[in-house]
Amino acid sequence: MRCTVFGTGYLGATHAACMAELGHDVLGVDIDPGKVAKLSGGEVPFYEPGLADVLRRNLDAGRLRFTTSYPEAAAFADLHFLGVGTPQKKGEYGADLRHVHAVVDTLAPLLDRPAVIVGKSTVPVGTAAELGCRARELAPAADEVEVVWNPEFLREGFAVADTLRPDRLVVGVDPSRPGRAETLLRELYAPLIEAEVPYLSTDLPTAELVKVSANAFLATKISFINAISEVCEATGADVTALADALGHDARIGRRFLNAGLGFGGGCLPKDIRAFMARAGELGADQALTFLREVDSINMRRRTKMVQLATRAVGGSVLGTNIAVLGAAFKPESDDVRDSPALNVAGMLQLHGAVVSVYDPKAMDNSRRQFPTLNYATSTVEACEGADAVLVATEWEEFRIIDPADLGSVVRSRVVVDGRNCLDRRRWTSAGWRFLALGRETMA
Ligand code: UGA
Repeated sequence: MRCTVFGTGYLGATHAACMAELGHDVLGVDIDPGKVAKLSGGEVPFYEPGLADVLRRNLDAGRLRFTTSYPEAAAFADLHFLGVGTPQKKGEYGADLRHVHAVVDTLAPLLDRPAVIVGKSTVPVGTAAELGCRARELAPAADEVEVVWNPEFLREGFAVADTLRPDRLVVGVDPSRPGRAETLLRELYAPLIEAEVPYLSTDLPTAELVKVSANAFLATKISFINAISEVCEATGADVTALADALGHDARIGRRFLNAGLGFGGGCLPKDIRAFMARAGELGADQALTFLREVDSINMRRRTKMVQLATRAVGGSVLGTNIAVLGAAFKPESDDVRDSPALNVAGMLQLHGAVVSVYDPKAMDNSRRQFPTLNYATSTVEACEGADAVLVATEWEEFRIIDPADLGSVVRSRVVVDGRNCLDRRRWTSAGWRFLALGRETMA
């Protein structure tokens, strides 16, 4: 089959490469000629494990191409995926839909035969129906153009596996237009359906809501354990042991119960805010007031981490050297959007600390977006002369640090585990004072 994918960021580039991997002919479309040139040359413009291999294999096989041309895309296929970003609006909670609207407004006037636009971006409920009306208004093929919603649940760092082996496929269609879109998508996803990936057909608003509800649930789960972590701190209990014990209950499960610095990135924080904003517009704001608390518990983690670091260096960070290990919002990603690690580094710097940041993959993005921080090229360089070492992103590289070796470069053997990812016994037996969120300090 043939399809196009509009937007070649984390979502679109992965979707385009993976649809080609399933054997389809795919045209990726982006307005940024730089991105198109890189992808056409087999280079992924961001860090995503395994994606470059899939990209190159499919470019070589001739199943995948990239372009900036909308007319070329409209002529190429009748199935068009929409994978552009929906960031948070500046200064407000709602989602900024300008990229989604721009694609539909530019593509629709070129659609002169029956076509299906398949939204994958995370959007406020009601967007799909609105875009459908807009597309039909603008397209020469008018009523023959349909908009359906097929939300994407991929995680950065696992994007390829999550696209080729998703937990489920959700497809929302307008019940007054049954048939065509469903047939095309079932054919496109046939290899996944044959591999027993559940395929769930819904109406449009349900499909849109499945996505934001999933992210709201995940955010709530993380903030739940982080709230309990605050109680652990007040009582001397250990949140990691508690999470392990909770997680044995199959109804709860251990995943997403890692207490620490909390969630960041381009999705969870902005999605819960956009969800609240949309519920407000719909007159259902009371239903989601708890998400305000989820958000504030999460943001409080960052100040708690700064307080812990301050305690670690004796009450004031002014003039101290602090190493911050990690800058990405999570491991296996170079994404620094709303990164708790960089937020903490920035606050410490503001309080007068000399901060040195190191991340295995996110250095370029960090430098670009936070040019006033100091950056090191390795863990050892970041930690030289440090009064405290903070672990802010749980990269494997940091988990396996030898505390005895690192002890020889720091000024004080003080470590603050912001992600509860280090082996406390190893660090304390190498003579480190060990502080962590939700766990007792050990000398
Ligand atoms: C999230 C969802 O997990 C995906 O299903 C969804 O498709 C995606 O958003 C999206 O909307 O596009 P992602 O943002 O890649 O994916 O990251 P997650 O793995 O969900 O992690 C989010 C944040 O939560 C990270 O900062 C992570 O460090 C933090 N986290 C995660 C915790 O603090 N504790 C945990 O136990 C788990």
